Amino acid sequence: MESPILEVKSLRTTFSSDNGTIPVVNEIDFHVNAQEVLGIVGESGCGKSVTSLSIMGLIPTKNGKVEGEILYNGENLALSSEKRMRKIRGNDIAMIFQEPMTSLNPVFTIGEQLIEAIHIHWKWPKKRAREHAVQMLKKVGLPRAEQLIKEYPHQLSGGMRQRVMIAMAMICEPKLLIADEPTTALDVTIQAQILDLMKKLNHETDTAIIMITHDLGVVAEICQRVIVMYSGKIVEEGDVRSIFKNPKHPYTIGLIQSVPDMREKKDRLYSIPGNVPKPGSIEVGCHFAPRCPYANERCKYETPPLFTFDNGQKVRCWLCEEGRDVVND
Ligand SMILES: Nc1ncnc2c1ncn2[C@@H]1O[C@H](COP(=O)(O)OP(=O)(O)OP(=O)(O)O)[C@@H](O)[C@H]1O
Ligand SMILES: [Mg+2]
Repeated sequence: MESPILEVKSLRTTFSSDNGTIPVVNEIDFHVNAQEVLGIVGESGCGKSVTSLSIMGLIPTKNGKVEGEILYNGENLALSSEKRMRKIRGNDIAMIFQEPMTSLNPVFTIGEQLIEAIHIHWKWPKKRAREHAVQMLKKVGLPRAEQLIKEYPHQLSGGMRQRVMIAMAMICEPKLLIADEPTTALDVTIQAQILDLMKKLNHETDTAIIMITHDLGVVAEICQRVIVMYSGKIVEEGDVRSIFKNPKHPYTIGLIQSVPDMREKKDRLYSIPGNVPKPGSIEVGCHFAPRCPYANERCKYETPPLFTFDNGQKVRCWLCEEGRDVVND
């Protein structure tokens, strides 16, 4: 039986500014099953990172607000204290951040940070923790791991820091790992190595993974299910095979068409015309309508709900009302 480790219900994250309160993540619902790898895809600015920071309890309270439920093993993290969240972040849910410097402390060496994490989590003596840290750095493909643990974050290149952060996130074998564009900055061989490592972590320690990426190739390689986000909402959801074979939302279709196909030589790669709207700029209707080749009048004025197909695929598009599939039929 599949059981969810994380259930997100009506998550809404807003930021207040001079222009009022702007929703960046707007009523999203999804779940992650134990041991599952779930992908979240969407163009820049769709709210992927804000979703993950909301789950981790890391949205700045100064101007940000998180509403809805974030149930981790039944506990609502949206209501948990900062002390409790710190414990969850150290033991249960780890995150690989898009910007590697944010989670490494500049005043401690790489070794001090890794050893401290291992020591707190596993209660191992320092010597054993040190050996484990070195091994983990080797696993993420970092050369001269023995020296590296004596160095400070600023002494490393961006790609190296990213791999240290990946090691740090995996070292405590979290129950859930949120990986926000973990391999985008890395070259292809290292990227493949990191994905293998994540697959291994998923298989061997049953870590569930939320993989946030622009790269549909990464989704095909390691995810079982995928969520497509657009302008703060989920527009399509389903198992990876169905979505790749038969995408139904015009946005998903556009994303898949934008993937370079090695077999076909094209002069220019297709990209969806137009841009993701600024949060708060569209008030009514489907947010994708201004860019959608299939949009009609209704799309401009009525927000579509998620329609569910027999195979479980969910699509937020009027063209899919009552199980129709206008685009593919
Ligand atoms: N602290 C903040 N205050 C105000 N607006 C914010 C804040 N953080 C993010 N946003 C806005 O929220 C929107 C979504 O941002 P987010 O970083 O989640 O996008 P993303 O999908 O992760 O994009 P990318 O693929 O580029 O990483 C953007 O328009 C961004 O400007
Ligand atoms: Mg992001």
